[in-house]
Formats: sequence, C-alpha cells, structure tokens
Amino acid sequence: MNNNNLIIKINGLKKSYDNGKIKALNGMDLEVKKGEFVSIMGPSGSGKSTLLNMIGALDTADEGSIEVAGIDLMKTKKLNKFRSKEIGFVFQMHNLIPNLSVIENVQIPMFETKATSKEMHDRAFELLKSVDLEDKVDQKPTKLSGGERQRVAIARALVNRPSIILADEPTGALDSKTGEVILNLLKDLHLKENVTLVMVTHEPYVGNMAQRLVTVLDGKVQSDNPTP
Ligand SMILES: Nc1ncnc2c1ncn2[C@@H]1O[C@H](COP(=O)(O)OP(=O)(O)OP(=O)(O)O)[C@@H](O)[C@H]1O
Ligand SMILES: [Mg+2]
Repeated sequence: MNNNNLIIKINGLKKSYDNGKIKALNGMDLEVKKGEFVSIMGPSGSGKSTLLNMIGALDTADEGSIEVAGIDLMKTKKLNKFRSKEIGFVFQMHNLIPNLSVIENVQIPMFETKATSKEMHDRAFELLKSVDLEDKVDQKPTKLSGGERQRVAIARALVNRPSIILADEPTGALDSKTGEVILNLLKDLHLKENVTLVMVTHEPYVGNMAQRLVTVLDGKVQSDNPTP
C-alpha cells in the first residue's frame, strides 16, 4: 500500500486507565486510507470510543505511534489546532448547546478559524440546506426531533471541512428508520465532501454500510475485512 494514501496510521497503540489496571487499548494497529469509510464494531468496553478519542486527539496514548493527517499525535504540541482543522465529531448524544439557535450551533467550530461572520453564516447555511434543515436554522435545538438534532450535529461536524469524521454510535439514540436516514446522509456527505469516515456502531447492518469493517476485542483489532 502506498503510504501517502494513508490518513490514519496507528501502530501498537496502548492506553490504560486507573494506574494501568484497565487496558483500554492494548496494542491497537489500524490504517485508514484517505476518503475511506470504515466501521468499527466490538463488545462494550473493548476500546472503540477510546480509539476514536485518540484519533481525534481528545486524549493521548501511553505507548505506540499514531499519525493522523500527517501529524504525529504523540509529539505535536498543537493538538487543538489539529482537532479543529482536521476532525469533525458526531456522538451518540449530539451535544448541541440548547440556548443557541441551530445555525449558531453549526458555526461553533468556525470560531476557532479566521472565517468572517458572513463566511460562517454562509457555510453553516449551505450545510443545513444539505441536511434538509434550511427552514429550522433559527430554531432552538430543544424544539427539534432526535433525528433533526443529529442532522444539526452532522452539519456542525462538517463545517470546517475536516478531513476525517469520527462518529461514535451516531444512530444509537435513534429509532431504526431515523437511524437509516442519518446513515444515508453520512454516506452521501462522505462521498460529496470526500471526507474519511470512521464510525463506531453496535448494529451489524450499520457496520456493513461501510466499505470496511474492523472488529475490536480487548483493545486490539480482532478482524479487518472489506464488507460484502
Ligand atoms: N476516562 C476513563 N477512565 C477510566 N476508565 C475508562 C475511561 N474511558 C474508558 N475507560 C475504560 O476503558 C475501557 C474501554 O472503554 P471504551 O469506552 O473505549 O469502550 P467501548 O468499546 O467504546 O464500549 P461501549 O461499546 O460500551 O461504548 C473500558 O473498560 C472503560 O471502562
Ligand atoms: Mg463507546
């Protein structure tokens, strides 16, 4: 494989909690190509969220190597800059700010950039349109349905044109029909914005919507195969 095509390179990554008692990652190896859609499955506690947190530099590893978008995350001191430039997060619980409007919520990550307020508004509006929420831009998130909130969260994740979207059970809190809408949306945006998508899920049919399915057990990769 040509290494230049890799956007994530993880080798022997280890992370423990509670003074080493819990080995959340125990020699994790993972390579992801630019523009790939990879899903991650595995039992509760196997290290899936820990892995995403390492890729998104929300937390740091103890040992091993992790390079994301050309940045060595074990060495760089600019984790905040890396995160706001390269990564968009979508969580199970959308984490929207209740007293800000939908469009303000989408603009939040742009405050860390040099964008003007017009650029922020235009980009947020464009994305809200692409998730079919242009008529809700001034609404407060508390007035939206679960699926609509998750669409706002997806728009927010994409606003800075990240190279990678990290989605941790993005459909976990939704009924299956709404979940399907969200997934198709993620899939379309992954193609349209040419973004790399790494998604954790518990549901096999969701996992199989990716191009590649990685299963994790005890903080290590157990299997890694193209989806049928
Ligand atoms: N901040 C933390 N402090 C202590 N232990 C933690 C912390 N975060 C995770 N762990 C532990 O690390 C292990 C891996 O957790 P992780 O959240 O990565 O699992 P997961 O695969 O995402 O599980 P789930 O499917 O339930 O979300 C678990 O044993 C968990 O209890
Ligand atoms: Mg988890």
